Amino acid sequence: MAVRRLAEQQPEGFVFDPQNLARAQREIAKYPPGRQQSAIIGLLWEAQNQNGGWLSEPAIRYVAEMLDMAYIRALEVATFYTMFNLHPVGTVAHIQVCGTTPCMLRGSEALMDICRHRIHHDQDHPSADGKFSWIEVECAGTCVNAPMVQIGSQVFEDLTPETFNRLIDDLDAGRPVTPGPQVARQLSEPEGGPTTLTDPSLYPGEPAPARKGTGRAKKKD
Ligand code: FES
Repeated sequence: MAVRRLAEQQPEGFVFDPQNLARAQREIAKYPPGRQQSAIIGLLWEAQNQNGGWLSEPAIRYVAEMLDMAYIRALEVATFYTMFNLHPVGTVAHIQVCGTTPCMLRGSEALMDICRHRIHHDQDHPSADGKFSWIEVECAGTCVNAPMVQIGSQVFEDLTPETFNRLIDDLDAGRPVTPGPQVARQLSEPEGGPTTLTDPSLYPGEPAPARKGTGRAKKKD
């Protein structure tokens, strides 16, 4: 897990554009008077999206002032959650590699080696062409399909060095990518197909159509 520090180079300032300002006000209005600080996650998220995928120090300060909360409290939130990127990220993909135990036992270190060689030796540094960046994160909740990476709101699971390299190649070339398991299994069923409850008589009627992916993945942001 990388140390969570603010980027050394910071922009001059930050303000929400009119669309995000309206969105922020709607978010704040969800909470009772005096509890507007509860909107902190949503507002930091909007600020990150507006700021090209990362949170600058002026953006964190701006959100803290908007919510009338101490700057240090907003900074604590921004530096705690890895969903908030504290450095500029790749324009094509910011790859979050899970390094927690199940993924580690199933080969996440090899995926991180690929990131070190293909993107940048260090986390939180964009590649030379600015297209990619990477970071190690804690469990993303798809341990059954370890090892995995998350890119935006998509997860790519059951990765091997070969399939992970291919994924980066496809993203780099602008080719469509398919989230979910990158091996021939549906969701998190056993590799090679189901091993229990396989008697067809248990399932009268038409079988449900096969689905690819975990259901968590959506189109890239
Ligand atoms: S340990 Fe990697 S997704 Fe849970």
